[in-house]
Amino acid sequence: MSQTKLKMIDLFAGTGAFTYAFQETNKVECVFANDFDKNSKLMYDANFDHELTFRDINDINVAEIPPHDILTGGFPCFPAGTKVLSNNGYKNIEDVKLTDKLLTHTNSFQNIVNLQRKKYSGFLYKFATRIQSESITCTDEHPFYVRQKQKTGYSDPEWKQANKIRKTDYMGMAINTDSIIPDFFMKLDREEHWFLIGYFIGNGILENYDRPEIFFTINDSIAYRKISSVLPIIIDYDGLYWCTDQEWYNLLKTFTKSIPEWTQNAPSYLIQALLNGYNTTLLEKKRNNLTFEQVLSLQRLYLKTGKIMCVQRKKGIRHLKELKRNRSFIDGNYCWFPVTSIKKEEVTDLRVYNFEVENDNSYIVQNTIVHNCQPFSIAGKKEGFNDERSNVFWKILKIIDHHRPRCIVLENVKNLVSHDEGNTFEVIKNSLTTRGYHLYFRVLDTSKISGIPQHRERIYIVGLLNPIQGFDLEFEEIPKRNISDFLQTNVMAKYYYVNSCSIWNELVTNVTKFDTCYQYRRYYVRENMSGECPTLTANMGTGGHNVPIIKDVIGIRKLTPRECFNFQGFPSTYILPNISDCHLYKLAGNAVSVPVVKLIADRLMNYLI
Ligand SMILES: C[S@@+](CC[C@H](N)C(=O)[O-])C[C@H]1O[C@@H](n2cnc3c(N)ncnc32)[C@H](O)[C@@H]1O
Repeated sequence: MSQTKLKMIDLFAGTGAFTYAFQETNKVECVFANDFDKNSKLMYDANFDHELTFRDINDINVAEIPPHDILTGGFPCFPAGTKVLSNNGYKNIEDVKLTDKLLTHTNSFQNIVNLQRKKYSGFLYKFATRIQSESITCTDEHPFYVRQKQKTGYSDPEWKQANKIRKTDYMGMAINTDSIIPDFFMKLDREEHWFLIGYFIGNGILENYDRPEIFFTINDSIAYRKISSVLPIIIDYDGLYWCTDQEWYNLLKTFTKSIPEWTQNAPSYLIQALLNGYNTTLLEKKRNNLTFEQVLSLQRLYLKTGKIMCVQRKKGIRHLKELKRNRSFIDGNYCWFPVTSIKKEEVTDLRVYNFEVENDNSYIVQNTIVHNCQPFSIAGKKEGFNDERSNVFWKILKIIDHHRPRCIVLENVKNLVSHDEGNTFEVIKNSLTTRGYHLYFRVLDTSKISGIPQHRERIYIVGLLNPIQGFDLEFEEIPKRNISDFLQTNVMAKYYYVNSCSIWNELVTNVTKFDTCYQYRRYYVRENMSGECPTLTANMGTGGHNVPIIKDVIGIRKLTPRECFNFQGFPSTYILPNISDCHLYKLAGNAVSVPVVKLIADRLMNYLI
């Protein structure tokens, strides 16, 4: 290798797309690549003459990384944790901020006085309860609000430490008693409004390609009458009911992943209407899988109508089932439910979280009241942005501090900018600018600037120690090539759909055009009208029909892994290792688009060399 070449490192290398694109300038040599995925190692090593370091980045001493001029990395996104109830809905415990308020055992939202986190070594307790099969994990002294079953009746509520709790104890949850009718673009005071919302939670979907669209499947005449009295739904040829309505679209959007907290404050007859709508969808074949947040919110809504529901999980899907009354009870404004299993395990150096909450000194974890006082801590299942180990961004900063590369190039999902109301991106920008980097960032769409017809919007952040006059990340838009340029011929039979598959009818009715990509969207097939391949995602490999669908002269089929790599701009000579398709799809969906990185690399070379 020539001495004059700039040296780069490729962190979270995945497919090696950063290495490939930068080395293609002929002015850069990669001196270090890292990933902890064994398939990434196989792919990287098959394509480059230096080896990828196969380790967790957190376990790598920064001094082991060779000196370099350019640091590149498409760093991974943020994981989830234990659900705590705040005025902004259920939040992962590690994401709770001082500006949030937490619901307490008195059913009021209280300020947080401080956030606490520490490393814990000792016993962890895991409790499952009659209403919650998913366990709550906490340190051994953390108190819960409980009533003990006695020979006659139950003791008064008291705070009891985790290590003293027995199966005769009933844990508690407060029931909302408010009766407030919300007023947004209209007063939501009709039962039909709430029925529609409940129906949407169970069965509706939203699309927003050219305009806001709301879809339902409806096979129930009462449901049809109620929903159509609010929204002008019409039936389309697939038997789906749909309409476009911007205001309802905006409102329903807030119900897609969670259920907004204001819903809990509504009068119970409106909450009953919402639950009626939701229950009607249980009769439909096509239903949405509820998120954990939605299930927890529904559980509280049911409580307000006097029903105690249990959260169950079957084959990874959560749902609610009514509990027999003798297994739990409502007393005043509280519901009480027995502990059904207690497990204990020893841990060392596990990061645990806690808060101090004003006035009531309590908060709600997975719909169960817990105390906040020191030294009690709930253990997060996983950790968030502020956590030093799980968020690799802090490790990137350590590498930067040690090596001071002249240039850094980071890539991430477009939503990085809006994550946590913009705070995450602010932290990233501040951390880099205070280290002396001049930042240039822009959301770039592969299909606009590379000629490759894949819609892929990603944020690219370039940081330069010495600012460059006139440098930016604006690239000229160029026409996209045809989908067919990226397809293979002689594709193996396993990629073709056959008429015994569950979505065959939808496929033959809808997948009618050549040179067009289609996508299976939960229960119907949608044509991509823009002449593009939809964004390839890492979960393509996880089964279902997530891989884009096309029609060729033989039949209807999924894109092959090689075609996915084509849509990411890898050359046909790029070696795909002999691993399962699902791993190849995942690698392709996680990758950066090679020509987009090449555009950035070429522009940087003008200045860095
Ligand atoms: C979004 S992908 C990056 C893909 C890559 N830029 C490409 O073009 O193929 C994130 C990668 O980070 C890796 N990763 C996540 N956490 C890691 C860690 N702590 N240490 C090493 N690699 C990690 C994952 O295995 C994954 O391959």
